[in-house]
This record gives sequence, C-alpha cells and structure tokens, in this order.
Amino acid sequence: MQVTLAEKIYKLKKEKKAIILAHNYQRPEIQDIADYVGDSIELSRKAMEEKEAKIIVFAAVDFMAESAAILNPKKKVLLPSLGARCPMAQMLTVDEIKRMKALYPGVPLVLYVNTLASAKAQCDICCTSANAVRVIQSLNADTVLFGPDRNLAEYVQRKTGKTVIPIPEWGFCPTHLLFQPEDVRILKMEHPEATVMVHPECTSEMQKTADFVGSTSQMCKFAKECKAKTFIVGTEEGILHRLRKDNPEKQFILAYEGAICPNMKLNTLDRLYVSLREEKYVITVPEPVARQARKALERMLDIPR
Ligand code: 13P
Ligand code: SF4
Repeated sequence: MQVTLAEKIYKLKKEKKAIILAHNYQRPEIQDIADYVGDSIELSRKAMEEKEAKIIVFAAVDFMAESAAILNPKKKVLLPSLGARCPMAQMLTVDEIKRMKALYPGVPLVLYVNTLASAKAQCDICCTSANAVRVIQSLNADTVLFGPDRNLAEYVQRKTGKTVIPIPEWGFCPTHLLFQPEDVRILKMEHPEATVMVHPECTSEMQKTADFVGSTSQMCKFAKECKAKTFIVGTEEGILHRLRKDNPEKQFILAYEGAICPNMKLNTLDRLYVSLREEKYVITVPEPVARQARKALERMLDIPR
C-alpha cells in the first residue's frame, strides 16, 4: 500500500515532536495537515503555548517565522521555503526608522509585525491587524509613528482619532493593493444582499465598501457569527478554504480573483515534508537584535485580547 505524503508528514511530526502552524493564506492541503491555522497574532501565541514541541514548522512567510524564533529561543523554527518573504516587511529599513525618530523625538514608534527583526528591535511596541487599534489606544500619546503599512496606519488613525504618521510614507501590501472598490460595486449588482468584509491592508477606498474590516481570523469569526449567506471577501484567496470549510452553507466570493500572495504560496506540501525531514530552513535571529525585538513583541502580547 502506498504511503501518502500527508501520512509521511504525520509520522515525522510525531517522531520529531514537531508542530505545524499555518497561516490562513496557506494552500488548502497545508491548512488541512496543520495543527493550527490562524492569523499572525494567533500563530505567535500558539508558538509560545506549545510547551512540548521541539520543532515548529511555520507554514507562512519570513516575518512570522522570525517572530516565532524570537519568542521561542529554545525551539527550532523552520520555514519550509526560504523564498517566502513578505515584500511589505522589506519596505521599512533601520535607516528610515532612525531618520524619522530624529524628526519626531519622543514620539512612540509602533511597528506592524510585517517587519524584519532589525526594524522591530527599534520600536516601542509591535501590533498586528487584529490588535492595532488596541495597541495605539494603550499608548499615552496623541501622535504615533506607524509602519510599514500606510493603509493600516490610516485605518488606526480613523479608529482612534490619534495622529498616526506612516513610515515609510508609501508602505503597502502588493496583494491587497489589487482590490478595487469598482470590483465590489460590480459584484454587488449581482449579489445585492452580500456582506462585504476586507482586510485593513486594503486601501481606505476599499475599506469604505466594507461592512466589516478585520484581520484574517477576525473575518473567519465574523463570517461564522453573521447571519448573512453571501460574503464578498477582500483578502488573499487562501482564506476561502477555511471560510468554506467552517461555513459549508454560506457562499464566499473573492472581491478580485487574482488576489494571490505568491510568497505565501511558495510553501507546498512537498516542501513542508522536506523541511521536516531535513530540518530546514532554520530561522534564527542574532541575540542582541532578538532581545530588543522580543521586548516589543512581548509588550504587544501583554495587551489584553
Ligand atoms: P493577519 O494577521 O490578518 O493574518 O494578516 C497577515 C498578513 O500578512 C496579511 O496580509
Ligand atoms: Fe505580505 Fe501581503 Fe503576502 Fe501578507 S499578503 S504576507 S502582507 S505580501
């Protein structure tokens, strides 16, 4: 009898005391084999809660695996595909942070987790799309520097009433930029009763079309609890698998069919198997940088859910 790839992964996982964490954008077959599927804050928490695990296979992109490595220095964190790098995380350099800090002395710096560890090491506190509003509200300051996503910066400014200065001025997610309000308008003509939910990485114009704006897992929760039967979804297509699995009686339509994050999709079941078998690619962060970045991540994790 032929042993399937999934069976081989299960066996190795058990032998090596490994767990697989997968982001909501991962391919369906990876989501199905994972021990846990979630958004970036849930995956960070899960990586810390798993006391027994010796290895964490992080099926996602670089900055998520890096955060897990920073928060779990004793565990081996593996990224199945080394090329899985979030372009937004590359948009904010340490030089730009230093330049802006010099221009705005004393103004707190909040960084989205979609950043490199070297950038996180320079900030006061991190946030994800799920808790950005709460993080900003927790700060005793009317003005904050916020990077690298300009759309998320505008979202938190609207929600908190504080002055949120984006750094860099133009940071964005190339996948979420693909969504346009016009597409929602056209889909609404066909499905006038549909509820629209979008990620805050979408433009402000796109967010205005939405009944709900939230992180990937917040969208999954909203879809479960909402009475609507049809949803127009403004985030990466990988989320559709979970939405449809959790709500087989409901209909989910992607607001733009081409919204695929090529970086997230670099992880395949084959690569995940090889990653586990050969224990690669190990993600490490040099300790002086990790120590500073850990403070900013832990400060975020201390904010009540
Ligand atoms: P979430 O934290 O909402 O899962 O978002 C991560 C991300 O990279 C969105 O593009
Ligand atoms: Fe980065 Fe955008 Fe991909 Fe999220 S969807 S990992 S922000 S490129």
